[in-house]
Amino acid sequence: MTQAADLLDPAERLDLDGLRALQLERLRNSLRHAYENVPFYRKSFDQAGVHPDDCRSLSDLSRFPFTTKADLRAHYPYGMFAVPRERIRRLHASSGTTGRPTVVGYTENDLSMWADMVARSLRAAGARPGDIAHIAYGYGLFTGGLGAHYGAERLGCTVIPASGGMTSRQVTLIQDLKPSVIMVTPSYMLTLLDEFERQGVDPRSTSLRVGVFGAEPWTQDMRREIEERFAIDAVDIYGLSEVIGPGVAQECVETKDGLHVWEDHFFPEVVDPITGEVLPEGERGELVFTSLTKEAMPIVRYRTRDLTRLLPGTARVFRRMEKVTGRSDDMVILRGVNLFPTQIEEIVLRTPGVAPHFQLRLTTSGRMDALTVRAEARPDADAATREAAARSIVQAVKDGIGVSVEAEIVDPESLERSVGKIRRIVDLRERRG
Ligand code: DLL
Repeated sequence: MTQAADLLDPAERLDLDGLRALQLERLRNSLRHAYENVPFYRKSFDQAGVHPDDCRSLSDLSRFPFTTKADLRAHYPYGMFAVPRERIRRLHASSGTTGRPTVVGYTENDLSMWADMVARSLRAAGARPGDIAHIAYGYGLFTGGLGAHYGAERLGCTVIPASGGMTSRQVTLIQDLKPSVIMVTPSYMLTLLDEFERQGVDPRSTSLRVGVFGAEPWTQDMRREIEERFAIDAVDIYGLSEVIGPGVAQECVETKDGLHVWEDHFFPEVVDPITGEVLPEGERGELVFTSLTKEAMPIVRYRTRDLTRLLPGTARVFRRMEKVTGRSDDMVILRGVNLFPTQIEEIVLRTPGVAPHFQLRLTTSGRMDALTVRAEARPDADAATREAAARSIVQAVKDGIGVSVEAEIVDPESLERSVGKIRRIVDLRERRG
């Protein structure tokens, strides 16, 4: 089933040749805009010996230098802006868990394009004008809340700006105001699930029909868990502040086969994380974005550190990105074996007697690193079930990932709950000199 054509934006109705022509024209303009108005880009293009005029085909983009988080930090707070500060209507900032935050800015046109992209994402997710949308992404400097908010309004929804936190009130709002759409991190959706159960409300009985989940990695197994427990469709939304915020890519509800990148505005590449070489479609690597229409803060070949692969379009002409397996920063290297929290998520969610709450604890054992998977028991799991679950997790990690870990099944509701992006890794390793 594909969506009725009259519900699509003009760009969603282009054929592939039309899309590539539009991208090239926009790319050339965007490179020129960056070069002429941001000293950082002028310098980095000059150093690499390239000029915006050298971009004659989309593949020429690979001749241009990358931009990294460190570059944005070095130009904190306003150094990456390409328009006078007076034209900036809004600022957002990344969480800055490591070092300085990065500040991003939007002109009026940028805010409008962003709202359009979130509206398009919501439509792809199955939302329609007139739907009530409950937004439990955090409002504030984080792009999740306000990004989702203006996109839902743009689509023509009635918006409940709940933000994150005050979990019992979230349940009351959902019960009373009867939203059909919820936008929230998948981990906070699980926190809401606990709260529904605590209040004795059947989560399957709500008015919710579709959940638009993102801002952190989540697996197909988590999708199944959420869809079943809430009786909704669960689809993936991706984005990052440096590019715009939520609404860079979105999964279509009719196919649920990866996220269509809205590449009429955000041009994706996947590169080898070590060599930086562009990889062919279908190969896994690091996702890189170039903005095609942004005014305030054009971004050229930004290294997201997110790992995925590009696939041809299905429900839309736009290429898809596979669900993100993780960020290179979240990869644990355990005795030479690379491991991502999403791999553990798959295993935990397939283990009987275990709830979908887990944490990875890294410690030092002698001269080696050790990892303990701490997963919560389901309330009805007895001691024997818990023991079997721990054994089964250890075995599945050994067989599937190829490394020995320990597993501990902890009491229900004993692990910290998420109100936004969850932190899976607790690093207690001793620093070696
Ligand atoms: O998390 C924007 C957003 C808000 C996206 C709400 C979706 C929904 P940042 O705080 O800048 O922006 O964090 C961006 O979050 O590079 C990914 O590592 C991760 N991320 C975002 N969406 C997904 C997703 C927002 N669907 C960083 N799957 C990105 C996996 C995601 N990871």
